[in-house]
Amino acid sequence: MEHSLELERISKAFGKTGVLSDIDLAVEPGEFLSLVGPSGCGKSTLLRIISGLERQDSGQVRIAGRPVDVLSPRARNIAMVFQNYALYPHMSAAENIALPLMVDRLSLLERLPLIRHLSPRRKRIEAAISGEIGKVAEALQIEPLLARKPGQLSGGQRQRVALARAMVRQPSLFLMDEPLSNLDAQLRVHMRDELTDLHRRLGATFIYVTHDQIEAMTMSTRIAMLDGGRLAQIGSPADLYERPASLTVARFIGSPAINILPARLDPQGHVMLGALPTGLVASEGLAGPVSLGLRPEHIRLHAACERAMPMATLRRSEHHGADRLLHLDLTENRQTGLIVRVPQDETGQFQPGETYGIGFAPEKAHLFGPSGLRMATRTLPARIGAAA
Ligand SMILES: Nc1ncnc2c1ncn2[C@@H]1O[C@H](COP(=O)(O)OP(=O)(O)OP(=O)(O)O)[C@@H](O)[C@H]1O
Ligand SMILES: [Mg+2]
Repeated sequence: MEHSLELERISKAFGKTGVLSDIDLAVEPGEFLSLVGPSGCGKSTLLRIISGLERQDSGQVRIAGRPVDVLSPRARNIAMVFQNYALYPHMSAAENIALPLMVDRLSLLERLPLIRHLSPRRKRIEAAISGEIGKVAEALQIEPLLARKPGQLSGGQRQRVALARAMVRQPSLFLMDEPLSNLDAQLRVHMRDELTDLHRRLGATFIYVTHDQIEAMTMSTRIAMLDGGRLAQIGSPADLYERPASLTVARFIGSPAINILPARLDPQGHVMLGALPTGLVASEGLAGPVSLGLRPEHIRLHAACERAMPMATLRRSEHHGADRLLHLDLTENRQTGLIVRVPQDETGQFQPGETYGIGFAPEKAHLFGPSGLRMATRTLPARIGAAA
């Protein structure tokens, strides 16, 4: 069974330092929501507030429509998985997984080792728990590992045991705080698949904190980006990639990062790169400096030609499997580097040291105002300068 999660105007400060302000968030049952943002922006704090490990200063947390603010972490029946799996080293994988159920179902007295052999009730409960562990272990394919201690497991296996421990109480809400960040690159990719798969099979609601925008892009139904204690944007991976709400979001999502070129609005609202019109017009806004965002795959390089285009010199060309990344420096503004993504079989024509014209389709460009917020634009039917 999956649950919805609603956050209403959640604020939190540590002493005088405000960390979260007025966070509103509604997560649908069964969603995989990634929470991303720069280090220190409050992702873990928000997760801890949802789980009940931390208390918000104001605002409400609702799970399945019910306010949970007075409930203890345990009573919220949420699974938490952290970066450091926090398994008990002296217990086997099976014992680690069983622990939350033992705590739930056995009295303190019954949990004493001596009682094990004396209490028939304990024997019955243990048998039931062992059946439940078997099911979870099967789902995560760790049955052969159950007798091992954490020290005898690989990082990925330990991660799966930690997941199993979180799953065994059949929570309807999973909170994960960078659960893959201790794993090497290959294992991360593998565990990414496993988690996506697990989410699909369980149908539970997942809230997943990550630094890694590729993880967020590939796994999530939606991504919420926190910045400066506020929600900068929430939407599908495609929304954030194709219509970033601010410069911060635009820079965070996408690898290699979006190119940001200094540009200017003329009094008619035309977006100018140096003296050249781009074919892009701001719907509103004052004449003055703006930023033009161009994804590396949306730039076309043209052999130097008579058309009026911004020019750039190719500094170096990097092999990235199917693509090549071309690093260029703008001629007009040498501090501004530019990265262009080109399919491998088209790269032969580009030589380091040579100068090329920069072309792009204005409808693919993103415009950001002086505050860093996205500006609405239209494109001119007749393109004067830079063209695709
Ligand atoms: N218990 C605490 N007491 C005081 N300040 C805290 C406490 N916990 C977190 N902070 C501060 O609150 C801010 C947000 O911390 P948080 O751990 O939520 O960030 P984060 O987004 O998870 O960062 P990271 O990506 O590095 O894990 C940070 O500036 C941090 O120093
Ligand atoms: Mg954190």
